Amino acid sequence: MKRLIAALLCAGLIFTAGGCVADEKEDEDITIGVVVYDEYDTFVASLMDVFMNGVTERMQSEEKKITVLRQSSGGSQITQNDQVMDLIKKGCDVICVNLVDRTDPAMIIEAARDADVPVIFFNRELVNQDLYSWDKLYYVGADAYDSGIIEGQIAADGFLEKENADKNNDGQMQLVVLEGEPGHQDSIIRSEYSVSTIMEAGISVDKLESGIANWKRAEAQNKMSRMIDKYGNGIEVVLANNDDMALGAIDEYETRKIPLSERPIIVGIDGTAVGLEAVEAGDMLGTVYNDKEGQGSAMLELALTLATDGDVSKLSLTDGKYIRFPYARVDRSNVLEYID
Ligand code: GAL
Repeated sequence: MKRLIAALLCAGLIFTAGGCVADEKEDEDITIGVVVYDEYDTFVASLMDVFMNGVTERMQSEEKKITVLRQSSGGSQITQNDQVMDLIKKGCDVICVNLVDRTDPAMIIEAARDADVPVIFFNRELVNQDLYSWDKLYYVGADAYDSGIIEGQIAADGFLEKENADKNNDGQMQLVVLEGEPGHQDSIIRSEYSVSTIMEAGISVDKLESGIANWKRAEAQNKMSRMIDKYGNGIEVVLANNDDMALGAIDEYETRKIPLSERPIIVGIDGTAVGLEAVEAGDMLGTVYNDKEGQGSAMLELALTLATDGDVSKLSLTDGKYIRFPYARVDRSNVLEYID
């Protein structure tokens, strides 16, 4: 029992450099290192909650000691490289890495390979050449194409169904895009596929502008403010690469006291708690559910497997490397199923 309590305390460690040390480690104890690009990212934080809850459940049900050493890199790849080296030194059996710069995993891979510590990359996808550079590297995430396509479908359906969606009656959809970080696989793919899906639905698109807001609500509000100044009531649809940015756009319409009936159609992606509330309230037409439960649990399962017998063949990995989860459409018709 003492051991279980100690283990529970260890699992609760949040963003500390040290924590439960490896020198007290017994053979069957498991130490997992987790490093995220930015602890304040809403979706990544909720994915981590799922992961940590899973750890607590596993410890309770199996009386296993699982120590999780967590770090946040504050948006710096250099910091993250040092953090991973440190986690290796602390004796982690496996490390889960949410890369800052998905094109720059070289130092992490080299250090992990030298120490023979498997790495699970998640949410920020490295190029497959890097992933295939060593056999103990894996990726857990979602299918970005899916998210762009579903977002486009929600916007297209809304535009065809909603009265006066075509505000200037020119038979075209005037849209703006709020983009996540440049170079992130999800920003690139969502921005492209949401728009192309709308065109494939037979709607002629007039893309007024896109603005980079780095997944952030406040940055999106700024960008939206500039766009409203420029286009006024001429914006008919806002496609945001994630819910936080869609909420930033809504914040700006709220600030300007523009009534719902005069606002554009706004669509997000993620299905975060706040995003789902906005769909329920009718502020956002819909969102695309990014399966944090699936990704967080699969990452834990894979980490535990790698830390114990290492037999990943019992998990269904694509190419022995990837676990990807599908996205799902959420609108007012089914939002309650997703709220808790
Ligand atoms: C995306 C998610 C964004 C942001 C980003 C961080 O999958 O939709 O909201 O969390 O990952 O890498």
